[in-house]
Amino acid sequence: MTKKVLVLPGDGIGPEIVGQATRVLDALIENHGLDVTYESALVGGSSYDAHETPLTDEVLTQAKEADAILLGAVGGPKWEQYDISVRPEKALLKLRSELELFGNLRPAILYKQLADASSLKPELVADLDVLIVRELTGGIYFGQPRGIRTLENGERQGFNTYVYSESEVERIAHVAFKAAMLRDKRVCSVDKANVLEATELWREVMERVGKEYPKVELTHMYVDNAAMQLVRAPKQFDVMVTGNMFGDILSDCAAMLTGSIGMLPSASLDANGKGMYEPIHGSAPDIAGQNKANPLATILSVSMLLRHSFGEGALADKIDQAVSKVLDQGYRTGDIHTEGDTLVSTTEMGDAVLKELA
Ligand code: NAD
Ligand code: IPM
Ligand code: MN
Repeated sequence: MTKKVLVLPGDGIGPEIVGQATRVLDALIENHGLDVTYESALVGGSSYDAHETPLTDEVLTQAKEADAILLGAVGGPKWEQYDISVRPEKALLKLRSELELFGNLRPAILYKQLADASSLKPELVADLDVLIVRELTGGIYFGQPRGIRTLENGERQGFNTYVYSESEVERIAHVAFKAAMLRDKRVCSVDKANVLEATELWREVMERVGKEYPKVELTHMYVDNAAMQLVRAPKQFDVMVTGNMFGDILSDCAAMLTGSIGMLPSASLDANGKGMYEPIHGSAPDIAGQNKANPLATILSVSMLLRHSFGEGALADKIDQAVSKVLDQGYRTGDIHTEGDTLVSTTEMGDAVLKELA
């Protein structure tokens, strides 16, 4: 049966990078027998400008009805002063939570061609392949109570709640252990169990679930050390599993090891494998509208979509290989450019990938 994809380009560089990703989809549909249709809709600031809400009920329904979602990025300076309840980022959080996309896979893989673009010495990152498994619908991002209140002395106080229930930890633990079973069978759970009770329980549940996966080695690390270890010796990690906020921070950090945040795709999955796919970076307002952004993270997100939601591993491999080939040929957007490479625009990078897919 024909599968339906909802495409949500979003704001800033979102439409530019998603434009290249849908060209890849088109090519696979036209020339490689991919049985997919897609439609596009507004999300984030662009939706707010048109409908005074970052996510309309119609788009939420479309997202629920689609077989998979491809998203660009949301947010930007234009909407930064708006009330947090209608900020573009709210759309993303609502999609994640309404669709129960709790399992966020953020693979940080170094393409060997980009060893020089990494912020670390080539020998520290050669063959780097770390999978960050981030819990995406809980933790301090969603905990209640939250808000800004006025104290008796008239001073205002902002507050959020860091909360994880056992079932929330259990299900993300299974995602991490299952992923590890297909890799090097090592899980490092990252927490702050020396300070936060919520993560003390997190650690306990990780241990409990880990017993169901005796072949997987489970270790624990405090988040401050984990951040340091990621830039000291990142290859020590196979799968890292952590909560929503720590995962957000550590994945941006890991991204840089691969050369650029413009290289990292992600999958956000529910319990049945339905997913939303997006680059981990944001709307990059500093380069938006200039045809400069790296579209590869978004193109690789299409690859993850085909692999995880549609079981199209062979087509996903095709995309991955095409990306590797264009890197072999020396094509680089500004974020991954080093001396001697060919500096290309967003659309030229798309052209190069399409040429390889042909
Ligand atoms: P950002 O990821 O947008 O940009 C950080 C830096 O990385 C910038 O210098 C940017 O130019 C660069 N960069 C990012 N993606 C790139 C790409 N594909 N190619 C080349 N360079 C790239 O983070 P930020 O500046 O902190 O946030 C900007 C806006 O994006 C904010 O409104 C933020 O809330 C939002 N945001 C959205 C998402 C999302 O939609 N998933 C993720 C992160 C941030
Ligand atoms: C990400 C982003 C989002 C997050 C923001 C935009 C809500 O930074 O996808 O990494 O914090 O999850
Ligand atoms: Mn982030």
